[in-house]
Amino acid sequence: MSEKPRTVSGMRPTGPLHLGHYFGVLRNWIDLQEREQAFFFVADWHALTSDYADPSGIRHNIGEMVRDWVGAGLDPQKCVIFRQSDVKEHAELSLLLSMITPVSWLERNPTYKEQQQQISNKDLGNAGFLCYPVLMAADILMYRPHGVPVGEDQLPHMELTREIARRFNYLYGDLFPEPQAMLTPAAKCPGLDGRKMSKSYGNGIFLSESVDAIRDKVRGMFTDKARLRKSDPGDPDVCNLFPYHVLLSSPEEQAEIRRGCTSASLGCVDCKKLFLKNLTAFLEPLHERRGRLDDAAVAEILAAGGEKARDFARATMAAAREKMGL
Ligand code: TRP
Repeated sequence: MSEKPRTVSGMRPTGPLHLGHYFGVLRNWIDLQEREQAFFFVADWHALTSDYADPSGIRHNIGEMVRDWVGAGLDPQKCVIFRQSDVKEHAELSLLLSMITPVSWLERNPTYKEQQQQISNKDLGNAGFLCYPVLMAADILMYRPHGVPVGEDQLPHMELTREIARRFNYLYGDLFPEPQAMLTPAAKCPGLDGRKMSKSYGNGIFLSESVDAIRDKVRGMFTDKARLRKSDPGDPDVCNLFPYHVLLSSPEEQAEIRRGCTSASLGCVDCKKLFLKNLTAFLEPLHERRGRLDDAAVAEILAAGGEKARDFARATMAAAREKMGL
């Protein structure tokens, strides 16, 4: 077995990935596969916890998610890419962990309370949604990782995962490490309208999207709202576009833009053109890799990854059952 440190993470297949996903989490995964034994999975059971009433999109989204991942640079030769529901051990561990998880821990989870309040078009009173963090703890602890690369929004779940691990170890003897969240230094990536980038706001730039489609969106986007004419000096720090230059343009280009914008020598149209040029250079290889993956290739990646994940999971389950007296 590999001596490298281990890591695991997952994403719910609820829609196409956008630049915010890439710079917030995926880039971190792509980095990690070089130096850790990394397990990355499509959390299809987690998608069902909220989309159980209409699961029609899930299967399609799973394939698209694997394409986005591999297109962006995850390499099935370097990391294990699999589908959660292909490794039934996750369900078994989730069941075992549910025995030692007080319901009060789940009910006071901030993410749970927030989503219950904010999401009005779905009934989230189901047991599966309440137990979301137990399943997530099982996903994680199964691979006994030191760290989990996730976004900031997942911190309450990570805390619960550590509490569950601690309780298990206390009751039955040490088995699980207490994994830390591995956050990416915050990449500011607002939507094209300045709000949070989100599929439901229609303000995102998706990894799978054609440059032509993106060009139309970018053409219509606001930059610095106070800059009405090119002869007005602009302020990159309130501009909706500038954060993208921070992500995609070289430091020299960024300095150049700042100088040109604040001195009114660079107009927003040219600034957008430079952005589209750099975005195209970023997306082209991604689209090329993505395009090479047909359904059969995706199925093959998931089958091979599932097998490796199950191998690991079987060993953890043998130890967990033994410790719990089964
Ligand atoms: N809750 C995560 C999200 O919404 C997805 C997820 C499920 C996950 N299981 C996990 C992430 C295990 C990391 C580790 O993005």
